[in-house]
Order: sequence, then structure tokens, then C-alpha cells
Amino acid sequence: MELSLKDKTILITGGTSQLGRAFVRKAVRQGARVFFTYLKAAKTAQELERAGAQGFSFDLADVKAIDAFAVMFKEKVEFLDILIHNAALTADSFIEKMLESEWDNVMRVNLKAPFYLTQKLLPLLLRKTPSKIFTLVSRAGLSGLAGAANYAASKGGLIAMTKTLAKELGRKKILVNAVNPGFMRSSMTANVPEEILRRNLEESPLKTFSDPDEVADFLLFLSSDQMRQVTGQVFHFESRPF
Ligand SMILES: NC(=O)c1ccc[n+]([C@@H]2O[C@H](COP(=O)([O-])OP(=O)(O)OC[C@H]3O[C@@H](n4cnc5c(N)ncnc54)[C@H](OP(=O)(O)O)[C@@H]3O)[C@@H](O)[C@H]2O)c1
Repeated sequence: MELSLKDKTILITGGTSQLGRAFVRKAVRQGARVFFTYLKAAKTAQELERAGAQGFSFDLADVKAIDAFAVMFKEKVEFLDILIHNAALTADSFIEKMLESEWDNVMRVNLKAPFYLTQKLLPLLLRKTPSKIFTLVSRAGLSGLAGAANYAASKGGLIAMTKTLAKELGRKKILVNAVNPGFMRSSMTANVPEEILRRNLEESPLKTFSDPDEVADFLLFLSSDQMRQVTGQVFHFESRPF
């Protein structure tokens, strides 16, 4: 099956992430016009630019920075086919020790930024419909994750927001879906202790971690014209039972 992505305009946050960079490269190869955001991974951003995408560095925790980006982006593109909220961070701690700043920063980047950026870029998404919004969520948002109340709450909130926006924007022909990529090896999981990694693998029926390449391919399919009637869903790569 040939995916129809040619000439689609796509913006993905966290394009330098493990998943983001796989998606950016593949989407460019499929003929899409791809823009991405990042925070500090300048070297990876340059590689993605050499591959044909365009990157913008700013802090998603800062609404003024989002405002400035949105103004600039609206001058740059006439419409947006696909908006992917992929950037996220963790600041793990048990409740006794979690700092208010750790709670706030995770909520700002993982939950408030997807709300705020969607609101600011909605005119572009409405200009040429159907268009699509994707959020990257996590098992933590459904079943909780000890030591990460901030991250779990942010992803749970993001799932609720995804389903709500699907209801609000469906009649305007904007499809909104979430993807839980499952456990991937990335900067986010680099510090997970070996024992927890082993337990994750044992509990997984497939005895594997997720492959960012496969998740990127799935996102490409969802972004393509082949997917036209699915909205309000959460797709799980997670092979462990909930
Ligand atoms: N890895 C997993 O096991 C797993 C499991 C379930 C869900 N997920 C979700 O899947 C998505 C991708 O995960 P990943 O592991 O591929 O991510 P990752 O490699 O840890 O990358 C995180 C991305 O977010 C960007 N970012 C972080 N803080 C930012 C800020 N304040 N402002 C702007 N950008 C910021 C980073 O930019 P820089 O590179 O410039 O720092 C980077 O592009 C995330 O939404 C994550 O929650 C991941």
C-alpha cells in the first residue's frame, strides 16, 4: 500500500526525540513538508534539517515562547495537515519528595503546551480539512506509575483532552487520536533501573520493548489519507496487560 503523505504539512513537537526523529525522517521521505520543535538537541536538529525538515528551538514550558512561535509559524505556512504533540519530559520522585517545580514543569510541557499550541494553531488546522491532531500518551496515564505522579497525571490529562477535542472538533473535520508507544529505549528511559527494565520485559507477552521505528510507521499511516474515519481513540503498543 502506498501511503498518501505527499505535500502534507506536518508539525511535530520534540522532533529530536527517539520517536520524533524516526518520524521526521520517514515523513520527509514520503514527500511531506515537515517542521519540528526541540529544546536543546542542536546536533540532532541539524541532522534532521539536512534530511529536509525544518526545526525550531524553544521551551514548551513557556507560553510566551509558544506565542512567538505560533505567530512566526502562521506567517510561514498557509495551513497545517497534521499536528503531533510528542515532546515530553519526566521529573520522577515519590510524593514525599516531589518538588512543586517538578510537578509544574512536567504539567506545563506535557499537558499545557499541547492545549496551548493546539489553540494557537487551530486556524491553520481549520484552513484545509480534514486535518489531524495526535498526542503521544503513556500507560502511566491510565494505570498510574509509582514515582511519577506528575508524568502519569499529565498523560492521563492528555488522554482526556484528546478524547474531548475529538468530540469538539469532529464536526469541523479535525480528527484527534492518541498513541501510546509502549516502553522505548530513549533519553526518557535511560535512567530506569535494570531491575524495572527486566520486570517490564517479563510482564510483556511479546518479551520486547517497543521499536520507535515501528511506532513512527504507525503514526505515518495514521497521518496519511488512508486513515479518514478514526477519531477519539487511544492506540496502544503496550503489550503488557493494563
Ligand atoms: N520512551 C518511552 O518508553 C515512552 C513510553 C510511553 C510514552 N512515551 C511518550 O512518547 C513521546 C516520545 O518519547 P521519547 O522517549 O522518544 O522522548 P525523548 O527521546 O525523551 O525526547 C523528549 C523530547 O521532548 C523535547 N523536550 C523536552 N522538554 C522540552 C521543553 N521544555 N521544551 C521543548 N521541548 C522539550 C526534547 O527536546 P531536546 O531533544 O531538544 O531536549 C525531545 O525532543 C513522549 O511524549 C513520551 O512521553 C515514551
